[in-house]
Amino acid sequence: MIEWLGTFGKTKSGGVTRLLFSQTWQEAQFALKDKMGELGFQTYFDSAGNLFGRMTGSIDKNHIILTGSHIDTVVNGGKYDGAYGIIASLLAASGLVERFGYPKKTIEVVSLAEEEGSRFPLTFWGSRNISGFYHLEHVKNLQDDHGVTFFAAMRAAGFAPEKYKPAARTDIERFIELHIEQGMTLEKNHNSIGVVTHIVGQRRYTVRIKGESNHAGTTPMEGRKDAVSTASYLISYLTKRAKEIDKQLVATVGKLHVTPNVANVIAGEVEFSLDIRHHEEQILDFYCQELFSMFENVAISLAMDISVSQWMDVKPVRMDDELNNWIREVALKQKICFQDIVSGAGHDAQVFASICPTTLLIVPSHKGISHSPQEFTSLEDLATGIHLLETILYKLAYD
Ligand code: HGY
Ligand code: MN
Ligand code: MN
Repeated sequence: MIEWLGTFGKTKSGGVTRLLFSQTWQEAQFALKDKMGELGFQTYFDSAGNLFGRMTGSIDKNHIILTGSHIDTVVNGGKYDGAYGIIASLLAASGLVERFGYPKKTIEVVSLAEEEGSRFPLTFWGSRNISGFYHLEHVKNLQDDHGVTFFAAMRAAGFAPEKYKPAARTDIERFIELHIEQGMTLEKNHNSIGVVTHIVGQRRYTVRIKGESNHAGTTPMEGRKDAVSTASYLISYLTKRAKEIDKQLVATVGKLHVTPNVANVIAGEVEFSLDIRHHEEQILDFYCQELFSMFENVAISLAMDISVSQWMDVKPVRMDDELNNWIREVALKQKICFQDIVSGAGHDAQVFASICPTTLLIVPSHKGISHSPQEFTSLEDLATGIHLLETILYKLAYD
């Protein structure tokens, strides 16, 4: 099923590109809907594009045990990120129904519409609709890099904004997400399961530098308003300071756009993304305050315009201790090698943690590679995760 789902948006280099509401995204969501139907789930979409598969409880129909992950990917990402969590939930829930019949409490599997922020300057469109955080208001002015508006993309995928109904849920009793680690800690420590205690806080910004385009030959170095050299100065500074301030502080410039981007023209404008993460809010505050006041000083000293706009701010969150304690006992009994871990990657689990007790379990990523076609997790580790998820779902919905 991982290979099958990986065919929707397959790239030449064997990766996957499945951006929110795109053609490949639609194909994957609708194929999943059929697959869920084949596995015995009642299926439905909400207005945000989240796909649900429901196994109705024989006793308690209205308190939902929700499990799943996100269907979207980054550009040329891997086959496991998000996809594994959806497939694991489908196999675990349908496997239980096959063996034990319908659950006493309703189980729903969800294929969340978007988590990555890889098409529009927004993340968690899926889970933050369910948590009631997002409404159409939040996306009415958004465009992707090709100038396609969020509304037009929604409409093209069959989720017309005119028909949008707020998708907030109040019936979710608990959320469980299974995901690949995307780091190398578990593999390094020979552990097959990571019990996530915290998920880091994450902030994303767009930094715009406005300088002056000019002739590369006739303009002396002194007095240039060169947006590229300024950007490189800021980027080397923010990288150096992240290393100096705290070992677990990470700052990434993954996207950079130069205008006019011509060899013999001094760049007049540069726009770059900035992704900052740490599990302590104070560290994030300290670093951001220092950094952006440094940006201001540079702008004044070079008489250039440097603007910083934030488009993502998720707080560090703690996962549910009670269920984590139970999972540790089960893992010990089942002789599964596991460890507690802080997730440096963001996950929908950190959104659900704001509305219900939430659990995130991770399995090893080979060489810690992710967001790349080389992303890989062994079948054995994938299976260990699914068996543990089955045990948890049995406890929560059958016991
Ligand atoms: O960025 C992340 O951490 C996740 O892969 N969305
Ligand atoms: Mn990802
Ligand atoms: Mn993910």
